[in-house]
Amino acid sequence: MEINNIAVLGAGTMGMGIAWAVAGAGKKVVLYDIKQEIVEKTLARIEKGLVRAEEKGQAPTGAKDFVLGNISITANLADIADTDFIIETVVENMNIKKELYAKLSDILNPEIIVATNTSSLSITEIAAAYARPDKVVGMHFFNPAMVMALIEVIPAIQTSEETVETVIKLSEAINKKPIKVKEGPGFVVNRILIPGMNEAAFIAMEGLATIEDIDKAMKLGAGWPMGPFTLCDLVGVDIGLEVCNVLYSETGDPKYRPAGLLKQMVRAGWLGRKTGKGFYDYSK
Ligand code: 3HC
Repeated sequence: MEINNIAVLGAGTMGMGIAWAVAGAGKKVVLYDIKQEIVEKTLARIEKGLVRAEEKGQAPTGAKDFVLGNISITANLADIADTDFIIETVVENMNIKKELYAKLSDILNPEIIVATNTSSLSITEIAAAYARPDKVVGMHFFNPAMVMALIEVIPAIQTSEETVETVIKLSEAINKKPIKVKEGPGFVVNRILIPGMNEAAFIAMEGLATIEDIDKAMKLGAGWPMGPFTLCDLVGVDIGLEVCNVLYSETGDPKYRPAGLLKQMVRAGWLGRKTGKGFYDYSK
């Protein structure tokens, strides 16, 4: 079956970028979240981002109209029943995901694949909450999803080979570069990247250098496109901490213990760009 209509469930930072990427590749997207005002706000963010990207020459002229023309929004889950493929990117909470997968079990056609963009939860456990677990697979995008080329395709223990092949083909069809990864905490990228951010927080806590200079060090000394704190603010400090916690609890290895500074930031509500404050100030 050709996949042309894709539902993106969850209109947070990743849902926004994924909807943009998929629509930009010419697929029709239905973007869903539980409240109409959330999806409306996300659509407005996509529009604003596209205006900026066109101005900067990062997106071709006309990209805004093309992408927006391919996206519809809804707060009614029943509206996604007729789509060909689901990308789930709702909040990283297993109980909320399980409730959603139970509802999806009732409304989706049996052949539909449900791909989860989880960065920290067990895909096997998510698949177990769905009526047809062989149709559930990890499809891990990277922030900003309309820019980053990689998709990690992660089969759960229950996922069929056919499901994996379909997701790899779809990833290519939306102009991404997929790699297949076995299920394991952090998969590949986050297993390397998040401990790097965590180490940067330990270095800051030890007072070895300022936040700005640690960022500068990794940009100018290691060629990172952005320093670890700028990246943490982009990804979300809460997401970074969550991935650290999963690496730590799943492996039991103390090398993954989260830095106290990350916990403090999350407790303060300083989650990065999305809250206007993280390691840097985005309020202006
Ligand atoms: N189309 C649309 N928007 C684009 C764009 C494009 N082709 N290229 C850049 N932009 C946007 C950026 O999103 C950003 O938006 P803003 O205006 O809202 O800030 C802005 O344009 C910045 O662009 P710049 O010109 O300043 O920056 P660059 O183009 O030099 O690069 C970047 C931006 C691609 C984000 C680069 O800095 C980069 O690669 N950073 C590293 C990102 C990374 O490591 N991501 C992975 C995170 S881990 C993850 O997501 C996994 C999860 O599970 C935690």
